[in-house]
Amino acid sequence: MRVLEVTDLQVELLTGTSVVRAVDGVSFHIDEGETVTIIGESGSGKSTTAMAILRLLPDDLAVISGEARIAGQDVTGTRTVIDKLRGRAVALIPQDPMTALNPIRTIGRQMTEAVRIKHPDLNKAEAKARALSLMEQVHIRNPAKQFDAYPHQLSGGMLQRVLIAMAVSTDADLIIADEPTSALDVTVQAGILDLLLELQEQTGIAILLITHDLGVARLMSDRVHVMKSGAFVEGGPVTDVVDHPQHPYTQKLLGAIPELGPWEDPGVTAPLVKEASHG
Ligand SMILES: Nc1ncnc2c1ncn2[C@@H]1O[C@H](COP(=O)(O)OP(=O)(O)O)[C@@H](O)[C@H]1O
Ligand SMILES: [Mg+2]
Repeated sequence: MRVLEVTDLQVELLTGTSVVRAVDGVSFHIDEGETVTIIGESGSGKSTTAMAILRLLPDDLAVISGEARIAGQDVTGTRTVIDKLRGRAVALIPQDPMTALNPIRTIGRQMTEAVRIKHPDLNKAEAKARALSLMEQVHIRNPAKQFDAYPHQLSGGMLQRVLIAMAVSTDADLIIADEPTSALDVTVQAGILDLLLELQEQTGIAILLITHDLGVARLMSDRVHVMKSGAFVEGGPVTDVVDHPQHPYTQKLLGAIPELGPWEDPGVTAPLVKEASHG
């Protein structure tokens, strides 16, 4: 099933007197169960692409053209389409889990609210039970205790697990994860990536992953698109792009992480696992 189809997406950002074409004619698709990654340097337009698809850019800042179909429906036209799909067919995992939750509401309250988007008929006890089971599913230890906690009482890694649980609660076909581990300690990054892989295996959810980290892209992706100055310079199966980068920009990105072992090495996750055990 085709979960996302983006065709010639353009985003112009209106900044005072100037116009920045942050996304300059980007096309790609994601099928069920796939992880497709956009990789590129900071400022290359990755987040703008994601935010345009989710229609989270203010209308007075961003002019969007082209097409982005989620579950077959074009979300670039009227906002009512994405308003119905967001939190249902598509869910966002944000970059910074520390600021994504409401600081003055408990984890439990925010979890049950998320649960009720998909299941508005659940009563309070049922919604709580569903929230607790989701917290277990994302391996939050002692969910009953964390349920009553406030965001500042949880670590960044635990908060990201809460946000992933919320995304899972929507039963979405597509998760958009914008640098989901960049704000986290290297010791907890691997656990979050593992969790995403595990959830994808269980549910077949498609993932649009955004990262500047080629190690993350290599671990997670089926296909990658390399983004530079708003456009894709190359793309394809992750092994092709990593082993035979055609564009000098990709070669430069690859050259920036010389410490990675060969792709075929079955221990490709080993450095991450090793880091994860430090703490
Ligand atoms: N709120 C904004 N106002 C004006 N320009 C922005 C804004 N957000 C991003 N940009 C510009 O859009 C371009 C792409 O940014 P972004 O999508 O955030 O890149 P990435 O996520 O790849 O780091 C950059 O040139 C950036 O300066
Ligand atoms: Mg970004």
